[in-house]
Amino acid sequence: MSLQKNQAAHSGGADAEVQDFYERYPYPRPVESLEKYRQLWQDAQKRRADYHLFWPAKSFREDQTILIAGCGTSQAAKHALRWPKARVIGVDFSATSVRHTQILKARYNLDNLQVYQLPLERINELATSFDQIVCTGVLHHLADPVAGLKALREALKPDGAMHVMVYAPYGRTGIYMLQEFCRRLSLTATDETIRELIAALNALPPGHPLENLLRQAPDFRREAALADALLHPQDRAYSVPQLFDFIQEGGLTFGRWIKQAPYSPQCGVIANIPQAARLAQLPPVEQYAAVELFRGTMVRHSAVVYRDDTPSPQVIQFTGDAWLSYVPIRMASTICVEERLPVGATAVLINQTHTDTDLYLPITAAEKRLLEAIDGKSSLAEIVAKAGASPPKQSQVEKARSFFERLWWYDQVVFDAATQTVNK
Ligand SMILES: C[S@@+](CC[C@H](N)C(=O)[O-])C[C@H]1O[C@@H](n2cnc3c(N)ncnc32)[C@H](O)[C@@H]1O
Repeated sequence: MSLQKNQAAHSGGADAEVQDFYERYPYPRPVESLEKYRQLWQDAQKRRADYHLFWPAKSFREDQTILIAGCGTSQAAKHALRWPKARVIGVDFSATSVRHTQILKARYNLDNLQVYQLPLERINELATSFDQIVCTGVLHHLADPVAGLKALREALKPDGAMHVMVYAPYGRTGIYMLQEFCRRLSLTATDETIRELIAALNALPPGHPLENLLRQAPDFRREAALADALLHPQDRAYSVPQLFDFIQEGGLTFGRWIKQAPYSPQCGVIANIPQAARLAQLPPVEQYAAVELFRGTMVRHSAVVYRDDTPSPQVIQFTGDAWLSYVPIRMASTICVEERLPVGATAVLINQTHTDTDLYLPITAAEKRLLEAIDGKSSLAEIVAKAGASPPKQSQVEKARSFFERLWWYDQVVFDAATQTVNK
């Protein structure tokens, strides 16, 4: 490829400042070993669940071309380890990030990984189109985020999928207050400033809006995370409606949230508030926007998006009969707890990656039987037949439909909706 790998990404302006920042303070903190990560992803079922999160309606394959845009120090190497049959390309405009990624590439013999020092706005120079683009924690740092998103969209195959993560405003209120504090004191990112800021944060009065974040993310007290949050020269955040506008302006369409329970009015405490019925009447985007305001603590939004002209919409729906052909796959990091249960529950299902403590799903004995019949191969029709009376009564089918829809909203399962081997 004729691309010059070490060219300066920008000749000046706000993006040059961001590039300089990430050369001095790479994020995330560079890691020595990816061994734990490698072992975690050896689980074929976990990879399959991850694939169908992005493409419920496409058959599973592992030989994808994947772009990690703004790959930081380890994300591209991780994806190359996770998907050994895929071709993975990482780009980042920070020479430091690229260097750390190259070290990991050599350490783990990642022949399926290429890394370039390149601003993602110039991704067309690679003359490659991608099945999947992962861009997390990057677009909100661009001087022109829409231009960046459009550039990525042009590199996405028509039936490709993109994972976008951008900051969310309400949960970051404390961060923006401390950013403003740093600006007023003309603090810029140096090792000394960061050390002193860590000391200041330890003295933060109780009740400060940053307090929760400091408690929940201990990493935040480390230099790299702290600099990235408080001394960043350029970041913005998107509320749900702003995110949907952003996606649309980029020529893309919303698919789903990576974790959807925190956005659903059917999940957690919000399902039982006096306004629940009113909330249920709203269109989905309005519901997500209202739930974001009610929860109040979201710090980021992670979504799966597709090109707005995609020829193969990846839709999961529970109206009609199509759902009976879906094959459910349990999501990794879900657990079934059978102690200290709410009244009437046989078990409680938890997705351990949820940070909201109200997002647990109590289930009955009949629902537990349905859950236990999930084997990653059987369709919902087969599961309903196996777990209930055969042939199942209409009321049992309806209960099962409602239960599997809830499992899906609670991030307990994804569906392989590409397999159409059903005896309905
Ligand atoms: C917060 S880090 C996120 C890294 C990685 N995506 C992750 O989630 O671990 C942001 C990264 O994006 C890179 N970056 C920011 N703007 C960029 C741009 N316009 N082109 C390429 N890389 C960019 C930075 O150098 C940095 O490594």
